[in-house]
Amino acid sequence: MASKKTKLRKVVVIGTGFVGTSYAYALLNQGVVNELVLIDLDKDKAEGEARDLNHGMAFGNPMRIKAGDYEECHNADLVVITAGANQKPGETRLDLVSKNARIFKGIVEKVMAVDFQGIFLVATNPVDILTQLTREISGLPKERVIGSGTILDTARFRYLLGEYFEVDARNVHAYIVGEHGDSELPVWSHVQIGGVPLSKYANIANLYEDKQMTAIFENVRDAAYHIIKRKGATYYGIGLGLVRLTRAILNNENAIVTVSAYLEGQYGLDDVYIGVPAVLNENGVREIMELKLTDVEQQQLDASAKTLKEMVDVGRK
Ligand code: LAC
Repeated sequence: MASKKTKLRKVVVIGTGFVGTSYAYALLNQGVVNELVLIDLDKDKAEGEARDLNHGMAFGNPMRIKAGDYEECHNADLVVITAGANQKPGETRLDLVSKNARIFKGIVEKVMAVDFQGIFLVATNPVDILTQLTREISGLPKERVIGSGTILDTARFRYLLGEYFEVDARNVHAYIVGEHGDSELPVWSHVQIGGVPLSKYANIANLYEDKQMTAIFENVRDAAYHIIKRKGATYYGIGLGLVRLTRAILNNENAIVTVSAYLEGQYGLDDVYIGVPAVLNENGVREIMELKLTDVEQQQLDASAKTLKEMVDVGRK
């Protein structure tokens, strides 16, 4: 979306399940958009959600919220896709690939049929795979097709490190990269607390083998399983993460966030959507931040990319 185009600050969210409505509710509370359109296969559900949100408008921020259909995408700045099956207890995100790939094909074709020229933001899992398929089906430039990637994993990582070291999470600089899933990895070599490298701050000789640090990472990687087992699904964290990305795009922030972005040689990887730190603005992904990884981190990232490349072929079938 060229910056000269006047932004309507119009967002269409496809899917009014737990994630889509948590995202909508957070948008209303944070006053990020002027217009929000809810699309769902179940039109009554979308209409009910729109009415319920509108009735809270006096307590939130003024914006137009309505249920609608795919023609509303033609002038949207952002189309956010949250529709699809979600993980059941014991299911991995990758287990959803075939089912959700079929759903996505129909959705993306309908959006492109009204000549959508904005930015896609994909949240449905397996998010890296579905983001790559969205790019291939839509034909939009790579920078305008983005996945939520490891935005939530990175937030979980910063939160848990902040809790452990009793520091505000906003002063913890840390990234989770790779698949948004079981093969993701912590970039220990770049974790800083208040600008001090973690190894110095915590006087930990080997971050990769420290038991406490390993426990923190495993808690991040497995967080969704633990939440799903207890409440059936996750949605507030990802809903807030999607609002963070929406703000970065609509406010042209040039914010550095870990999203699922398309690599063309960065990190020695090619033709894969995967979670990496990227600069996000009104045109989508401006550039990918290429961290100098340790050998251990690079090997883990290579393995994660290999898993995603194998699974995207399953999704294409
Ligand atoms: C989670 C979902 C968004 O990690 O995959 O909570």
